[in-house]
This record gives sequence, structure tokens and C-alpha cells, in this order.
Amino acid sequence: MGKQAKKKKPTMADKADRHVLYQASVQCPEAEVEFFDKTFRELRGRDAKSLKEDFCGTALLATEWCKSDLERTAIGVDIDEETLEWGKKNNIKPAGKDVAKRITLIKDDVKNVTKPKVDIVSAFNFSYCLFEQRDELIKYFKQTRKSLKDDGLLILDLFGGTECADVLEEETELDEFDATYIWEHVSFNPINNHMACAIHFEFDDGSRMDKAFTYEWRLWSIPEVLEMLEKAGYAKTRVYWERYEESDDDDDELEGTGEYYETTEVENQESWMIYIVAEPG
Ligand SMILES: C[S@@+](CC[C@H](N)C(=O)[O-])C[C@H]1O[C@@H](n2cnc3c(N)ncnc32)[C@H](O)[C@@H]1O
Repeated sequence: MGKQAKKKKPTMADKADRHVLYQASVQCPEAEVEFFDKTFRELRGRDAKSLKEDFCGTALLATEWCKSDLERTAIGVDIDEETLEWGKKNNIKPAGKDVAKRITLIKDDVKNVTKPKVDIVSAFNFSYCLFEQRDELIKYFKQTRKSLKDDGLLILDLFGGTECADVLEEETELDEFDATYIWEHVSFNPINNHMACAIHFEFDDGSRMDKAFTYEWRLWSIPEVLEMLEKAGYAKTRVYWERYEESDDDDDELEGTGEYYETTEVENQESWMIYIVAEPG
């Protein structure tokens, strides 16, 4: 009997889609749209209609924005063709023709796209921290300002806290996928605040998707970002901090509510994720 070629059964990691897992692990577009909606109305006294999602990746936020209101439009800008194509096929198309026709995806460097002018420009999941030099980030902020209508808003997120410079791994169960999401701080150089981070996924069959995503960026501080926004010509900046309350499971623990409020003074925490809102005028 001749030798039979044996084929290895694919593992859960082989079969998984890294973008599906990423979206389930780190994105919450409904909460972001709610924050945009509420904050814009509070600060500008009208409803925001147009969004430019810089570093849009799979354009999940742009899609959610257009789903939330029939009059809303979105532009998504990302430099990576494969990610944009994935987003078109898996987020935009399934949302239906009426949503799809209000979304424009542009494959380009975010520093090159300033037209048409929109109500809100967003840069989320800390993507602007990829610009590690002060001049480069100020240049990007200047471009976002050119992209905004006179009463528009730039909305950014940022992470930090006493633990953020530590080399660490944080695990979150993804029950729906029988998987674990792992966020790793791979390295941190305190001399230039350069940080390497990675996302891995582990599955219940023991398989692992190692380095599904990796990032090299600078850990900018809140005052640095505010100062650079000012340098780029923004007239006013605001910081929104998450409201915390006692955990149901443990009285000594506080847990985030997902609700954000504007503030200028807080106690530092092990880790935090904030929103920064900048007004051009
Ligand atoms: C951290 S991911 C963020 C994806 C998405 N915004 C989110 O909230 O999860 C960074 C994205 O920025 C894109 N990117 C990196 N540098 C860029 C640049 N200069 N211009 C446009 N896109 C860029 C990458 O292709 C990647 O999709």
C-alpha cells in the first residue's frame, strides 16, 4: 500500500478571521456614535451629519455612523488596501445599499485628505500616536483642522495610566468565539516613549493567532496632545474622562460605566482611556 498524504486538520486559529476578532475585542462603535452625537449637540447646538473617520481600518465606525441616521454621511481614510476591502465586503455591503451609498472610502495617507469639509473628524484607537515626532503630529492636526467646517469638531481617543508603561499582558474572554483576546505591551523606552504593542488571540482548542496585529507608536501624554492641538491652530480643547462606579461583584473595585464627562482634574488610575475634543474656532 502506497503512502497516503496526510492533511492536518485546520485549528480554530487557522479558521478564524483576525478582523472579526479585532472588531469584537477593541471596537464599540455604538458607544462612540452616541458620544459624538451628544457632544456635538451640546457644544454646537445642532446635529452632526458628516464624519471623516481617519485611520478607519475596516470602517466599522463610519458604517455605524451612517446606520444611526438616514441623513448621515461618512468618509473613511486608511492606507491599507486589504483592510479597506475587508471593511467594504464585511461591514459596508451587509449594512445595505442605503447605508453603503453614503460612505466613501479613500485609500491614502490621512495627512493628504482634507476635502470635503465635515462636521466631525475622528482618529480612534490611538492611531495618531503612530506619528511619533512632534512636527509630524502637529502637521497631521493642521490637516484635520482644514478638513473641518467652521463649527466642526476633532475627536480623538488616548490611553494611559500608571501601568501603561509596564511590559504586561491583559486577557479578555471572547465567549462568542471560544477565544481569548490578549493585549500585550511588548516594550517601552522611557527615553523617547516609544512603545511596541501586540494583539494575539488564543482559542479553546489550544491554537493561537500570534501577533494578529502589531503597533509601534509613541505614548503621548494628555498635555502634550493638547499643546500640539493648540500649536496646530485649535482654539479650544476639552478632555472627557470615564465615570466610574462601585462594581456589583466587589465593593472595593470601581468599574467604568462607559459614560464620559468633561473635566480638568482627576486622580490617576492604573489605566484609562479618554476622549479629547478640539474646536477649530
Ligand atoms: C490601530 S488601527 C485603527 C483601526 C480603527 N480606526 C479602529 O478604531 O480600530 C490603525 C489603522 O491606521 C492605518 N494607518 C496607519 N498609518 C496610516 C496613515 N498614515 N494614513 C492612513 N491610514 C494609516 C492602518 O492601516 C490601520 O488600519
